[in-house]
Amino acid sequence: MFPINEWGTSMSAAAFENVENEELALHRTANDAATDLANRIANIVRDKPDAVLGLATGGTMEPVYEALIAMNRDGLSFAGVRSFNLDEYLGLDPTHPMSYRATMHRIFFDHVDILPENTHLPNGTATDLTAESAAYENAIRQTGGIDLQILGIGRNGHIGFNEPGSTVNSRTRVVTLAPDTISANSRFFNRTEEQPVQAITMGLGTILEARQIAILATGKSKARALDNAMRGPVTPDCPASFLQDHKSVSWIADNEAADLL
Ligand code: PGA
Repeated sequence: MFPINEWGTSMSAAAFENVENEELALHRTANDAATDLANRIANIVRDKPDAVLGLATGGTMEPVYEALIAMNRDGLSFAGVRSFNLDEYLGLDPTHPMSYRATMHRIFFDHVDILPENTHLPNGTATDLTAESAAYENAIRQTGGIDLQILGIGRNGHIGFNEPGSTVNSRTRVVTLAPDTISANSRFFNRTEEQPVQAITMGLGTILEARQIAILATGKSKARALDNAMRGPVTPDCPASFLQDHKSVSWIADNEAADLL
């Protein structure tokens, strides 16, 4: 049964009967939903100043980082935090402005007191990508594991770059992006020839090992994916549906993304 916030409409418990420690937080606006996620991240960091955060890129997350930057100005410190991003494009140098490494610096890292050496993203230009993937898994393990993994959701139900067909036990690896993902992300690229069609991503197995997960969906383009993820069968056809089996997941949505729930 989902605890819901004060304006949320009541939801059928039967649809979620296998759920133990799950929560759905509904918000009127995308900004309110992003602020909710930022507050949850801040609470983790206050409780555990050396928390390990699993971070995400994507348009949905930009207001989350804006809120965290404001909190940092007001005294919330990230100086002890370690971070691991979900994914990185293959073949983009970390200095390329559209690489997720450069993006994270632009939208978050450069504006807060997190130590650059404590921030991790897979290296999409590594010569040995199998070794790079294994090293990324190992680096996460060395920290003791991710305390909170934040996630967006793709219109096709992907999390990280785990596209439909990804298996529940998948680990960090090279993947080919789905046509819908390439089309959704083309807005970030000036020229189509620059846009990578492959990436290196944490696997579903990697993500599901996080102690807590918070997934944020905003806007009407996410309504179908959110409904499938929360209420559909648990299936590789909708990778986010595997979150239904995680022991501590918060689904955070705005009005538009929650439209079909
Ligand atoms: P978006 O991406 O926030 O840019 O919509 C989310 C995702 O693909 O996970």
